Amino acid sequence: METLLDVPQGRFELQRLPLRKNEVLRAWDAADEYLLNYIAESNLLMDNSHLLILNDGFGALTVALNEFNPVAISDSWLSQQSTQFNYSENKLSLEKIEFKGSLDWPTQSVDVVLIKVPKTLALLEDQLLRLQPLLTPKTTVIAAGMVKAMPASVWKIMEQYLGTTKPSLAKRKARLIFTTLEKKQEQFTNPYPFYYQLDNTNYLIANHANVFSRESLDIGTRFLLDHLPKNTEAKDIVDLGCGNGIVGLLLARDNHLAHLHFVDESYMAIASAKENFNHAFAATKQAKFYLTDGLTAFKADSMDLIICNPPFHQQNTVGNQIALTMFQQSRRVLKKGKELMVIGNRHLDYHIDLKRIFRSCDVIASNKKFVIWKVKK
Ligand SMILES: C[S@@+](CC[C@H](N)C(=O)[O-])C[C@H]1O[C@@H](n2cnc3c(N)ncnc32)[C@H](O)[C@@H]1O
Repeated sequence: METLLDVPQGRFELQRLPLRKNEVLRAWDAADEYLLNYIAESNLLMDNSHLLILNDGFGALTVALNEFNPVAISDSWLSQQSTQFNYSENKLSLEKIEFKGSLDWPTQSVDVVLIKVPKTLALLEDQLLRLQPLLTPKTTVIAAGMVKAMPASVWKIMEQYLGTTKPSLAKRKARLIFTTLEKKQEQFTNPYPFYYQLDNTNYLIANHANVFSRESLDIGTRFLLDHLPKNTEAKDIVDLGCGNGIVGLLLARDNHLAHLHFVDESYMAIASAKENFNHAFAATKQAKFYLTDGLTAFKADSMDLIICNPPFHQQNTVGNQIALTMFQQSRRVLKKGKELMVIGNRHLDYHIDLKRIFRSCDVIASNKKFVIWKVKK
């Protein structure tokens, strides 16, 4: 797999986190290269420019533009870890970069904004709204992405919040979008977080813009909620890949002895889960929230029950890889004799990996679309 990014700014060694043996994917795409070439040709950046980079996948933009002291905002903890890792691998000083989570924005105005178009349109919308107060008439905003990840809705939303857009020619299936900022007459309010009431409860569920199934309860999650264990003796239960934390919320309600551990690598997921838990239980219950990669931070043989509705993509890359890692981590982290419960779309065939890792695997419930499996350590 190619790891050397060769652009006008320099040659940089770049890898994706989590590191995997036999990785086949590069840590950047043609849109990163297109954007970096354009920036070099246009002399857009000066030594004193305030540069903001949004949604850099694994650090290609931030690393290549390190000398401009970028502020890098991302909703993904893993993306930020990758960027840090790649800074270190290229012997760059981390003092030159400021990392911010997706809910923690700078207040100073910016000169150049580079946006890698995120997978979720709602996240782009939230970001454009948060960006607005930082723009001046002189700010340049450029969005970049692979053509297949930039449907017409991306242009529309940029026009709605920023101004007229102009596309570049497509190069190697990548495209840039330039904007001419216009003073908008309309005052926009940010529709996120989005709230809905969870059926048959009085829980009001907050969902920040990048949260899985942010507008209503996902049908898979609904099926899982109907089969969650109740009144167990479990002391420590993990909601692995918690999103808005609904699964852990109901586990806490129905398992009085349990202490809940909510895990996600998305800033917005953890913020939503925290808000939802605190709102549901006020000060009557405590839980722990972990912004991290799966169960890497957990001790071996420490948990009594893990429940997981695994992700099926990392950024734009679809696959079972993260799910597989989560199953392997669960095997390490569960106490002997304790269980992992997994829900997945029938066609994802998680039972094959689960059986290989845990030796046997039971079906708890299934319907036309979903299966819930249980495995024991
Ligand atoms: C399919 S969603 C499930 C959300 C929620 N548990 C539910 O059932 O509605 C998967 C979640 O896994 C999270 N995720 C993805 N990669 C992760 C990783 N490496 N570590 C922890 N969480 C991750 C995603 O951010 C997302 O919130």
